[in-house]
Amino acid sequence: MLIRTLILNLPVCLSESSYLWVPMADLKSTFLKVYSVLKSELLEDSAFEWTDDSRQWVEWMLDYNVPGGNLSRGLAFMESYKLLKEGMELTEDEIFLASALGWCIEWLQACSLVLDDIMDNSHTRRGQPCRFRVPKVGMIAVNDGVLLRNHIPRILRKHFRDKPYYVDLLDLFNEVEFQTASGEIIDLVTTLEGEKDLSKYTLPVYHLIVQYKTAYYSFYLPFACALLMLGEDLEKHTDVKNILVEMGVYSQVQDDYLDCFGDPETTGKIGTDIEDFKCSWLLVKALELSNEEQKKVLFDNYGKPDPAKVTKVKALYKELDLQGVFSIC
Ligand code: IPE
Ligand code: MG
Ligand code: MG
Repeated sequence: MLIRTLILNLPVCLSESSYLWVPMADLKSTFLKVYSVLKSELLEDSAFEWTDDSRQWVEWMLDYNVPGGNLSRGLAFMESYKLLKEGMELTEDEIFLASALGWCIEWLQACSLVLDDIMDNSHTRRGQPCRFRVPKVGMIAVNDGVLLRNHIPRILRKHFRDKPYYVDLLDLFNEVEFQTASGEIIDLVTTLEGEKDLSKYTLPVYHLIVQYKTAYYSFYLPFACALLMLGEDLEKHTDVKNILVEMGVYSQVQDDYLDCFGDPETTGKIGTDIEDFKCSWLLVKALELSNEEQKKVLFDNYGKPDPAKVTKVKALYKELDLQGVFSIC
């Protein structure tokens, strides 16, 4: 039953930059109001002796990093929760609580992006400079990322402490953060292997990277949160997890495609996968489809910060019609 609900109804949210599902406007506006409440609570957190400067920094940091994306993960959770309630009217308290949990997912996304952009040496995110590129921020962005992660248990403690599923929620966020950080590690160390031998980039390696770095936190987490709120035991829903992970892998394929072929005006970010030597879906496919001469073009030009070399790689991707391959995959 859950799988049926999922396949038929779960919004197919793809990357930050595009998604196939438009959330109901009222759901989004309710959701956004809860952001302001959570932010005020965090800025009044009595566990810390605030100074004016630190409070101003954290408020600015939150506004800069948390609410500016498409909110697909938080809203996918809200929509899943509503669907699993099977048409039962939600009370105002239930909507507030669900929104707070949806925001915890968005907080985790914000933390992952702030840190990922440093590691990928990216330029823009959501149409503005990456956090670490903002003058006066620089490597303070590392602490911003850590703070964003630490806000999640504070929100959960304030609003979910008396719930029977509180410990399971904390455990879920810990587990998913572990999976994401581990995925980022394979993503990053694989580039070291790739620099020595590009042919190490294969589909199984790619699948492993993106399953961990993207799929768990972007696709499994929202639905798992909904299951927990409804009192379900996650151990009993491994089939749901498997489907969501595959959806997450597909979403990263799209993210990789957009890194090269997307319009930064729409995606809000400038691609760096070619320069960064990333084990991208496009490269894996290109290696699969190339003859010896084309492989040499890849070996000579991939992973170099020289725009002329990046252009040569993109030209080869076009020659191999990777846009066509993507559209049928
Ligand atoms: C990283 O994947 C996913 C996480 C943020 C953990 P990418 O590095 O491909 O994501 P973008 O393209 O920078 O958004
Ligand atoms: Mg990145
Ligand atoms: Mg990317």
